[in-house]
Amino acid sequence: MPQSLPTVIVSAPVPPDLRAAIEAACRIVDVPTGQRLDEAVSAADRAVARGVLCTVRTPVDAATLEALPAVAVVSNFAVGYDNIDVPRATKGGVLVCNTPGVLDRAVADLTMGFVICLARDMVEGDAYVRRGAWLRGPAPLTSDLAGKTLGLLGMGRIGRMVARRAQAFDMRVIYHNRNRDTASEEEGLAAYRTRDELLAESDFLSVHVPLSAETRGSVGMREFEAMKPSAYLINTARGPVVDEAALIQALREGHIAGAGLDVMEREPLDPASPLCALSNVVLQAHAGSATVETRRAMMELAVTNLLDALGGRQPLAMVNP
Ligand code: DGY
Repeated sequence: MPQSLPTVIVSAPVPPDLRAAIEAACRIVDVPTGQRLDEAVSAADRAVARGVLCTVRTPVDAATLEALPAVAVVSNFAVGYDNIDVPRATKGGVLVCNTPGVLDRAVADLTMGFVICLARDMVEGDAYVRRGAWLRGPAPLTSDLAGKTLGLLGMGRIGRMVARRAQAFDMRVIYHNRNRDTASEEEGLAAYRTRDELLAESDFLSVHVPLSAETRGSVGMREFEAMKPSAYLINTARGPVVDEAALIQALREGHIAGAGLDVMEREPLDPASPLCALSNVVLQAHAGSATVETRRAMMELAVTNLLDALGGRQPLAMVNP
């Protein structure tokens, strides 16, 4: 009797050719992105599901893992995996996979986009032309990037990629990280600073740490008060790393000059959020990796991880300790 194909739950936008690759080896159960798998999947499918392919919008918490007793792998279509209870998965023998490496350039590009946009006040520049203000005189002067200090809070792959780009703009790059990145220091990519030195010296403070119990809310009023009033905060990592209420207060009270945010505490951001009413904030819709090429590379890796794990092969990118 032919063996039945393993069931996988797919809750991510898989292009047709990669979907065909999954279908050649698996039976797919589709779930709309962001829905809870323990609620959206039928009991019969939950009982047999061997794999999950999902985005960061799908919580894979203890309740979800409990509802999927046969699951062997959760392949996240993202480098971050704060949506997944990794200790719990590991305890249950579930492999957790992610997509490191392939999105570093795209996220670093967006980070530099924020730096340029904030320094040159491009949002206001655009509005200035559209409302006809240019007809009455030139737009206000903005700031050079050259000679300014970019502070990287977190120095992983993405932080290093941002440092490379900032160097091409003749910026001074400093970083703080739990572990010293001596290779980058020796290469002259970035100089190490204590956390307080980083806050005090940065003209642009860019967050590149993962979301964890330790980093949640770790950039708050104490940090904003320690920054220069002329400094900007950039966050392309995870929204909850920043205390959003404190950020809004700091922006209103002028503790910092502005912010570029790709990620927020709650996503999608409610347009009624005070952040949307602040003219010194530039917003993006969690789009750091959202280019055609990068999302394709991420999905190829996520599908390969899924199929490797189900086929008994070592996945390329696993996060279990
Ligand atoms: C990631 O890969 O973690 C990005 O934030 C996309 O969600």
